[in-house]
Amino acid sequence: MNTRFSTAFGLTTPIALAPMALASGGALAAACAKAGALGLLGGGYGDLAWVQREHALALSLSPDAAARLGCGFITWKLDEDASALDWLLDQPHSPAALMLSFGDPRPYAARIAQRGIPLICQIQQVAQLPLCLEAGAAVIVAQGGEAGGHGMNALNGRSTMSLVPELADALAAKSPHTLLLAAGGVADGRGLAASLLLGADGVLLGSRLWASAESLASTAAVQAALQAGGDDTARSAVFDVLRRKNWPAPYDFRALRNSLHRQWEGRVDQLRAAPDAARADYDAGVAAGDFNRAHVTVGEAVGLMHDAPPAAELIARITQETLRLLPALRA
Ligand SMILES: Cc1cc2nc3c(=O)[nH]c(=O)nc-3n(C[C@H](O)[C@H](O)[C@H](O)COP(=O)(O)O)c2cc1C
Repeated sequence: MNTRFSTAFGLTTPIALAPMALASGGALAAACAKAGALGLLGGGYGDLAWVQREHALALSLSPDAAARLGCGFITWKLDEDASALDWLLDQPHSPAALMLSFGDPRPYAARIAQRGIPLICQIQQVAQLPLCLEAGAAVIVAQGGEAGGHGMNALNGRSTMSLVPELADALAAKSPHTLLLAAGGVADGRGLAASLLLGADGVLLGSRLWASAESLASTAAVQAALQAGGDDTARSAVFDVLRRKNWPAPYDFRALRNSLHRQWEGRVDQLRAAPDAARADYDAGVAAGDFNRAHVTVGEAVGLMHDAPPAAELIARITQETLRLLPALRA
């Protein structure tokens, strides 16, 4: 299937694996790259040893598809330690793309551009676009609040349905060569087809590929998610406080709305002020694999997910369904 995005990155389908921290490891990135998608390793909080290990694994598993392997990082965390990014930039294998989310990409843009690596910037509001264009982003990811994991809180966030076409219009006016991906709530061919109709050049898939054979997500967490529907997720800062993650405002986190979440979601300020007992409860839940207390990171798309097959099967399924809906896209 050809779109501007698949053509620019040498893909056979306009799908990118989201760089999901602790889920998008080398095996999942390699499986996506081999299946013709862009495989972005979840560099997340910038753990150098993790990135070194998973990058080596991805290259060893997909030598023929190495040109479709990249990595993503949480930008505000790079401000504290960019060693994993620097290490990647020094490798003989140049990543196909580097993605930065949640913060100002400009301090890293020159280093990435010097290596000729395309920069992908994930944003949640139209107001964030100028900084990304200043940073020379080749691709903008429009992340709606439906998304699993971190994103912008409900007060400031947008939904995919209106954010994508508004950003498509803004890019058409200001920077027509910059590509656009939709993220948040896409889990099947309907979502990819709709994203293309809304003006995106492709999609970035998180939750759907989180539940795949190659994902690093625990099998028990995936099983818990597959029992859930989209109504069973919620966005808040509860799990960031419980996990001792110092996320800056205005970002928060979508996950399954389990018992521990429900207990605290109406009084996050109280949780912040005295988190110790709740953190102990959360830690015990993690140790026991009890997902009524431990978090399960998925978005609203979980209601469209009923299995966890190999990533290649998911990518083929979504691509075929999109082509049935939009036959004119057949390459
Ligand atoms: C388990 C999980 C972990 C995530 N971790 C990251 C991350 O480390 N960095 C990042 O930029 N986005 C992360 N995201 C968000 C994705 O980049 C993407 O915006 C989101 O998954 C798209 O929505 P979807 O989950 O409905 O597909 C994560 C999402 C999930 C589900």
